[in-house]
Order: sequence, then C-alpha cells, then structure tokens
Amino acid sequence: MKKRILVTGGAGFIGSHVIRHLVNKYSDYLVVNLDKLTYAGNLTNLADVEHNSNYLFLRGDINDEGLMHRLFQEHRFDAVIHLAAESHVDRSIASPNEFVFTNIVGTVNLLNAARHHWGDQPEGKLFYHVSTDEVYGSLGDTGLFTEETPYDPRSPYSASKASSDHLVRAYHHTFGLPVIISNCSNNYGPNQFPEKLIPLFINNIRNNKPLPVYGKGENVRDWLYVLDHAVAIDTIFHKGTVGETYNIGGHNEWRNIDLIRLMCRVMDRKLHRPEGTSEGLITYVTDRAGHDMRYAIDSSKLQQQLGWVPSLQFEEGLELTIDWYLENQQWLDAVTSGEYQQYYDNMYKDR
Ligand code: NAD
Ligand code: DAU
Repeated sequence: MKKRILVTGGAGFIGSHVIRHLVNKYSDYLVVNLDKLTYAGNLTNLADVEHNSNYLFLRGDINDEGLMHRLFQEHRFDAVIHLAAESHVDRSIASPNEFVFTNIVGTVNLLNAARHHWGDQPEGKLFYHVSTDEVYGSLGDTGLFTEETPYDPRSPYSASKASSDHLVRAYHHTFGLPVIISNCSNNYGPNQFPEKLIPLFINNIRNNKPLPVYGKGENVRDWLYVLDHAVAIDTIFHKGTVGETYNIGGHNEWRNIDLIRLMCRVMDRKLHRPEGTSEGLITYVTDRAGHDMRYAIDSSKLQQQLGWVPSLQFEEGLELTIDWYLENQQWLDAVTSGEYQQYYDNMYKDR
C-alpha cells in the first residue's frame, strides 16, 4: 500500500463521504476507519465499501490514549485525517463535558500518538485536522471569515473545536509535527443525522410534525454539499502546504427562514401535497442560547492556490438531498427510533 491513512469519525456524516471517496479513488491506499460509534456513527453509511480490500473498520474511542498508541504501532499510519468529534451545538449547550473529552482530549491523544510514532523526522507524514468555521465566532451583516480572522468561539462546541485547532498548531510549532487544518462552513447532504436543521426538517415534514424555527429564523448559514467538502479534503490532503490553514465554503448564504420555506416548497412538490402545506408546520420557538447570527466563508485561498471549487448549485444539492432521504426512509426510521425520541423530547419540549 502506498499510503496508510487513519480516518477518525468515518462512520459519521462527513467522515463516511470522505471514506467512500478515498476508498473508491485510491485503490493503492489503505484507509482505516476508527470510530466509537456514538449515536452519530452509523456503519450502514458505508455498507457499499465495507468489503473493499483497501478499507478496514475499527471500533474505538480516541479518548483511549493507550489504544491510539497501539493502533499507530500496529498499522504504521502515514497520515491521519481527524474528523471524530461531538458535532452538534445544541447538545454542547445541554451537556458540554463530552465535547471537552472527545474534541480536546481526544485530539491531544491522537497528536501524542502521531508525534511519538513519527519521531523526530516526520517527513512525508501528515496530521490533517478537520475543523469548523464556528471557531471564528459570529459575523454582522457584512464581511467573510478568512484564514486570518481572529478566533472568537461562542458555544461549548465551537470553543472545544477552537481548542483542538490551537493544540494542533501548537504541536506543529513546538514539536515540528506536520499538520494542516481546514475550517468548513455548514455541510448538508445524504447521511446527516436528523438533529441538524436540514435532515431534522425533512424528517418532520414527512411526518407532518411542527418545524421548530429558532428565534425569528433570521440567522444566516453558508451551506456546502458534503461531497464538495470531501473533495476539498482530498485536494488539501494531497496538495496543501504543511502548517497552513484552508477555509472551505460554498459562497452560498441563506437566512434560515428562506431556506426552510424553500425546503417546504420542494417537499410539497415531491410528496404531492398542495403548495403551502408544509409551510403551515413552521413554528417559531425559543432561540438557541448564544445563537451565532451569521457565518460566511471566504474560500479564495483554497480556490486560487489549490484549484478547488464547489461543484453544485444549492437548489440542485437540496433536491439531491431531499430525494436521498425520501428514498432512504428506512435509514431515517432506524436512526429516529429509540434514543432519538428521548433526545427530541428533551431538546424541544420547553421551547
Ligand atoms: P457527526 O456527528 O456526524 O460524526 C462524528 C463521528 O465521530 C461519529 O461517527 C461518531 O461516532 C464519531 N465519534 C464521536 N466521538 C468519538 C470518539 N470519542 N472516538 C471515536 N469516534 C468518535 O459529525 P460530522 O457532521 O460528520 O462532522 C465531522 C467533523 O467535521 C467534526 O470534526 C466537525 O466538527 C467537523 N465539521 C462539521 C461540519 C458540519 O456542518 N457537519 C462543518 C464543518 C466541520
Ligand atoms: O458552520 C459549521 C457548523 O455547522 C458545524 O461545525 C457543526 O458541526 C454543524 O452542526 C453546523 O452548526 P449549526 O449550529 O450552524 O447547524 P444546525 O443544523 O444545528 O443549525 C443550523 C441553523 O438552524 C442554526 O442557525 C440554528 C437553526 N436551527 C437548528 C435546529 C436544529 C433551527 O432554527 N431549528 C432547529 O431545530
């Protein structure tokens, strides 16, 4: 095998698209997927590649430092693409501790294992840390996040991701570990767990349940199709410069309420319901605590230096996404049974 890559969090939403992309494109790489399989990890996301000879799944927790060392020793990884994280802002507000353990301590465990096993001459090795635009804080009506924007995280989730970014950079500056970081805007697409806005609302519309819009629905997010993120990660992994940061975004800003109305129209058409039916489900609820107003990414560095561009228009990507959820209702039913109901009741009952 030409490269042996450890991908963490590969059974989650973005990780599963990254794994499929790498396994199908690079038959001469061994791609090892390390995932704890929390509520967000789902091996059916990777059923189509699970028997490929260049793919290996290992169940494990990045908080287990001893395990990280044993895996590096056994598999002699050339590179890490680190996606494993607690990723939902609302959960981080309800219970922050798990975000500190996995996102901060888990990242340090991986950094220590990489540093120890790659030694003083880590030429050709790479620790690629996948992060978020939320580390930059919240924008007003204008402006974009660049790679130079000062960090200003405002939720326990974004603070834990910002901490992990700082630690990754510190291991580069202090120990010479070869690292790259990318910070991406909101992803959407198939296989996203229905706690996040788009899949949660698709699921509620199909079940004729209220659509809980936080505050006035005026917050703005910059949406990127998940496969475009996977391709950006591949591009940065192969062509990026060690020690650099790259912002990834879709130049695709939407106010939540406009996006929700668009989803309602598309869903009415696809479900053969009279126009306006789904909009009737919109319910304004208590705002998220500390809700960031606007995110928007300037990805010109990545576009100009490495030649990446998003491939899909948003309307096209949204249609593909809605089609996927409607064609995979078993997937939705499976992940929304059991524990999900309890999560939903706890998260939305007092809003
Ligand atoms: P996700 O919640 O869908 O998946 C996270 C995965 O990590 C799951 O498979 C889970 O089982 C695994 N995991 C969690 N804790 C673990 C642990 N302790 N040890 C091993 N595995 C563990 O998340 P996602 O939306 O796919 O995000 C992936 C990464 O991309 C995260 O680091 C996130 O911060 C970042 N990111 C996400 C977005 C987005 O819009 N979703 C945007 C930018 C960056
Ligand atoms: O910007 C990148 C980040 O995008 C990632 O780092 C996070 O992992 C990912 O979860 C996402 O964070 P957001 O908080 O922006 O995504 P979420 O889907 O939770 O919410 C999107 C917007 O929709 C936000 O303004 C809150 C609002 N919202 C969300 C939910 C779940 C609602 O109005 N109602 C809801 O029920």
